[in-house]
Amino acid sequence: MNVLVTGGAGYIGSITTEELIKQGHTVIVADNLSRGHYRAVAPEASFIQANLDDQQKLDDIFASNRIEAVMHLAAYTSVEQSMAEPGKYFRNNVVCGINLLDSMIKHGVKRIVFSSSAAVYGEAAEAAITEDSPTNPVNAYGDSKLIFENILRWYGKTYNLEHTSLRYFNVAGASKNYGADHNPETNLIPIIIKVALGQKEFLSLFGNDYDTRDGTCIRDYINVVDIARAHIMALEKGGGGAYNLGNGEGFSVAEVIEAARKVTGCEIPVKLCPRRAGDPAMLVASYKRAKECLGWQPQHSALETIIDSAWQWQRSHPQGYGGGQENKP
Ligand code: UFG
Repeated sequence: MNVLVTGGAGYIGSITTEELIKQGHTVIVADNLSRGHYRAVAPEASFIQANLDDQQKLDDIFASNRIEAVMHLAAYTSVEQSMAEPGKYFRNNVVCGINLLDSMIKHGVKRIVFSSSAAVYGEAAEAAITEDSPTNPVNAYGDSKLIFENILRWYGKTYNLEHTSLRYFNVAGASKNYGADHNPETNLIPIIIKVALGQKEFLSLFGNDYDTRDGTCIRDYINVVDIARAHIMALEKGGGGAYNLGNGEGFSVAEVIEAARKVTGCEIPVKLCPRRAGDPAMLVASYKRAKECLGWQPQHSALETIIDSAWQWQRSHPQGYGGGQENKP
């Protein structure tokens, strides 16, 4: 299949592109490189530098490539930044997405897999969140994802667009060739590895007074390679609403730090800091629906396996993809 991957130079997009290619698909990556890295794009993929706020450019992409399906991963993804600049998040994650859908419809492309997030749930009411759990985002990032899921539903009704939203929980880890390189990095596991590598002095632990077993926030960490595989299953099995993608098991921040100490053999100094805005106490998935409907289940998502893959990648790419001048097509 000819697949357009928006955000294909980003962390999850690059590894999804890698998996698509492995499975024999043809990939066209569209990315504006504002957050992504040209070096993260598999050489077998075609690359187009494009801003999704440019409707004409989008129309040109669809007019000149025989695209059969879209994987939409281009988005801003920091919970923290979304609380400081909500407008920026809604413009990029919602308005640009509408542009993409309009170009798809105009060119008869009727299948999309959307990169959504567990952040759509907000504070969890249940120990294991299902797709039917209430959606009450507690940050602008999560709301931008929920709003776009709803927009997809309306495009589905109006234009018969087949749409699948993948609600990722805490994606971490790396493949052999591609990994996380955000600037600034805000996610726990890559920051812990930076501390282990001596690139950062200590880990700021954001709060130990949550209502959890050790007072630190609990999250469901899932390997990025498992997430990439789910995209392809969603593409092949067709449309069907939203799926949780998680490991089904929660680990506290303190437990992740301990596991990272074991995997890396490094001390990883920690400094206790106040809570971070927009952080729910606990987010753990039930992935039953993805298992039943897509045949997906995590294969590489033991916590130590995830941390070890991140450790290997960051050790072999101490400066990430290099950034700066190298980041040119
Ligand atoms: N944390 C720290 N110190 C840090 C970084 C994080 O203590 O330096 C803590 C956070 O407070 C949180 C936990 O580690 O309790 C995980 O934080 P991350 O930033 O790694 O991840 P989030 O849970 O905030 O968000 C991630 C993705 C979102 C997604 C969400 C869904 O970044 O895009 O998972 O579960 F929406």
